[in-house]
Amino acid sequence: MLSRAYEDELFRKLYLLASEEIEGLTDEFCMRCHSPIGVYLKEIPPADGSKLSDIAKRGISCDFCHTVSGYEKIGNGNYELSPGMVKRGPFEESKSPGHETTYSELHTKSEFCGICHNLYHPTNNIPLELTYTEWKEGPYAEEGIQCQDCHMRQSPGIPATGITERPDYPGIAGAGGGKRSHLYTHYFVGANTIPQVQTDKSYEQMAMERLQAAATLEITLPANITPGTESTVKVKITNAGAGHYLPTGLTELRQMWLYLKITDNSGKVTYESGSLDDKGNIDKASIIYHSVFADKDGNPTEKVWKIESPISDNRIPPKESAIEEYSFTIPAGANLPFDVEATLKYRSAPQHLVDELFGEGKTTPLIVDMVTEKSQIK
Ligand code: HEC
Ligand code: HEC
Ligand code: HEC
Ligand code: HEC
Repeated sequence: MLSRAYEDELFRKLYLLASEEIEGLTDEFCMRCHSPIGVYLKEIPPADGSKLSDIAKRGISCDFCHTVSGYEKIGNGNYELSPGMVKRGPFEESKSPGHETTYSELHTKSEFCGICHNLYHPTNNIPLELTYTEWKEGPYAEEGIQCQDCHMRQSPGIPATGITERPDYPGIAGAGGGKRSHLYTHYFVGANTIPQVQTDKSYEQMAMERLQAAATLEITLPANITPGTESTVKVKITNAGAGHYLPTGLTELRQMWLYLKITDNSGKVTYESGSLDDKGNIDKASIIYHSVFADKDGNPTEKVWKIESPISDNRIPPKESAIEEYSFTIPAGANLPFDVEATLKYRSAPQHLVDELFGEGKTTPLIVDMVTEKSQIK
């Protein structure tokens, strides 16, 4: 996703919409993180990218990251750069035939990522996306586990989350380099599974593996259930594997939600929550974990540039849980058992938004089943 941070169609469409709606005010701001070389070379504006060089279109590339030499403050892309022949990295003694090298402790710490993975509204300063702060105030920061320890230890089949192993990959980083106890992988996989954006199937697979090693579910049934009277099923969702809130980042768009289904002993669905309508939108009464912000009139908006105040945020902090309650009535005279099934689902963007941006029916963000739990009312 880093290499596609500029070419990403979802980004570009929202970026151009912002530029149009507020007359270019965010043109440079967005690109500080999405095409940092473009901003450095003053190739932005214009927003349409017509002045961007090829290297700037490559988003966040090798040379950009290994040229970061510090930051003014965490968030909003306030990095300091030292372009030139010296490349910065995690090894104290490192020799390259292609360039000079220098050790950078910053590259081994979450603060490096936090420079861009914390986003505040540039004029009203409202915190919009705070992955770094969510990590910093949580248990993983306390244990010294950095962003790099999960996101740069993943490889196909090994998601490297809080509940899986996060192995070392010993080896040699380049010709003539010494043997290292661990080479940090550079897949940088998050959760993105939008077909128009995540075009490489192996990355889509790794994003699914990461999501499927992020949470656990537990269903609690009432001790006694009498058909004809109301009962309550409880579902506990634990953020077991993510180093920040679940979900994190662009959570005014991302959707994680709970699907619950109760079926009678003939297989007929008698209760359902979290299903999709015929347009692919989540039923309004469902439990969705996300952040909701309001525009100047107090109406919910998914457009970051219009945000004036926060409305709600029910996401789950690292190693913490949420408990949801569902009330339902098993019809009087029904024969038991009834099956209860809960699934935590995720998609990177709501259907109505991609329909609006890409055209109706043009693309469908993949829905990933993160975890499923079953129980039976006997
Ligand atoms: C998002 C920023 C980012 C990008 C893009 C990036 N790197 Fe890195 N790279 C890092 C960080 C951070 C580390 C050190 C991780 C640590 O030590 O915790 C690293 C480590 C390295 C190392 C040391 C060996 C290792 O793997 O640990 C080499 C060599 C390297 N990067 C080369 C590259 C090349 C080549 C590219 C482009 C294909 C690239 N990097 C792209 C951030 C980046
Ligand atoms: C120059 C700013 C910048 C830096 C520094 C940076 N990132 Fe990012 N990162 C981005 C942007 C922008 C995107 C979104 C690209 C997109 O979706 O178009 C992104 C995307 C990601 C994703 C993929 C998210 C998804 O939806 O799948 C992961 C994972 C990630 N970054 C991890 C890291 C880690 C770990 C570090 C530190 C080693 C880091 N990033 C450093 C700007 C940055
Ligand atoms: C303990 C392991 C762990 C640590 C530490 C960790 N992450 Fe993650 N990260 C995950 C898991 C698991 C997911 C997938 C579930 C989710 O989306 O939260 C994820 C997802 C993401 C995503 C994609 C969110 C989305 O929905 O598009 C980004 C971006 C990201 N992480 C960045 C970071 C940054 C930046 C840090 C450090 C400040 C960090 N992560 C620290 C495990 C970790
Ligand atoms: C401080 C750095 C920063 C700035 C400034 C920034 N972004 Fe991002 N953007 C990110 C990061 C980091 C991600 C990945 C977060 C995640 O995956 O949840 C991201 C992801 C996105 C995505 C999701 C792409 C996808 O494929 O899922 C869109 C769309 C986006 N940004 C639009 C914008 C727009 C429009 C602006 C300007 C109004 C902007 N961004 C400004 C850092 C930034």
